[in-house]
Amino acid sequence: MSKSATAIAHPNIAFIKYWGNRDDMMRLPANGSISMNLEALYTRTTVTFSTDIPDTVIKINGKSADSSTKFRIDNWLDDLICYLYQKKRLKDAPGNAEIISENSFPTGAGIASSASAFAALTLAVFGALGIETDEADLSCRARHGSGSACRSIPEGFCEWVTGSNEDSYAYSLAPASHWDLVDLIAVISGKHKKVVSSKGHWTADTSPFQEQRVYTAPQRIAVCRQAILEKDFNALAEVSEKDMLMMHSVMMTQDPPLFYWEGPTIRVIKAVREWRKEGLECFATIDAGPNVHVICTGRSAPAVRERMEKISGIREILSSGPGGKAHLV
Ligand code: DP6
Repeated sequence: MSKSATAIAHPNIAFIKYWGNRDDMMRLPANGSISMNLEALYTRTTVTFSTDIPDTVIKINGKSADSSTKFRIDNWLDDLICYLYQKKRLKDAPGNAEIISENSFPTGAGIASSASAFAALTLAVFGALGIETDEADLSCRARHGSGSACRSIPEGFCEWVTGSNEDSYAYSLAPASHWDLVDLIAVISGKHKKVVSSKGHWTADTSPFQEQRVYTAPQRIAVCRQAILEKDFNALAEVSEKDMLMMHSVMMTQDPPLFYWEGPTIRVIKAVREWRKEGLECFATIDAGPNVHVICTGRSAPAVRERMEKISGIREILSSGPGGKAHLV
């Protein structure tokens, strides 16, 4: 007997960043974070449970997953199945899982896919097992796989609250249709730095600036939340850029230091700040990699894109508006 389900989830870009955990095993974040899902990019994952499969099978973009990815997914899945037994939501052993996952965005574009990957995987597992649950529970279980994945479960603009285990999940602050923001992603390098970024959380506390960043995060969260609800672009731009610079200051001063930026990264940051002074609605934010997400309003996006195309070192520009929630197909 086999049971199958397919789910789609979008990656997200954080305005207020998640960096460092209070509890690494449970991925309980040091501070809350706020993000926007990215409609144009998605992961589509099919999970099939069968008693005929001898071991977990994981294929990502047509290739068998490497051993560290398999280890991570196996552990997460065991933990989830155990949790479902404990909660008496699962009675019979479901067998092993075959997981087939595809990303719509170019592999090697350096776009972190663990958020959309674990969000789609969580939903597909619940779907395949025929277990209905609420969004907070899905978000919480996705968080155990990858912290930022909890923000790819709800719709549009999402806030992840710190909480203790089952109270640490993301909820939607506003739907995707709330604000026509555009993320113009300047792809600078295709290198995927995911492993380093995961390990980076473990040593965030070794930076002397992490304590201050975490201590002041609730103020930035409040400003960011209000800026989104009131569609106040300048407030969102100022608080998001500041938060990104604070996270990268921590990254660069932790032990060992993490330098994600390349030459073109700083060129884009500086240019974007100048364009904003000239009146274009745009700001820059960067995750654990060299690529720059230039967030703009719909009306400023064409002019911003035109200017970005003239900056040397940008290999490609991807574009996306705010995305919906993770869903079964
Ligand atoms: C810099 O969620 O990728 O993108 O929990 O180890 O999978 P793991 O980490 P991950 O960390 C994301 C960090 C960030 C900032 C953010 O998205 O908030």
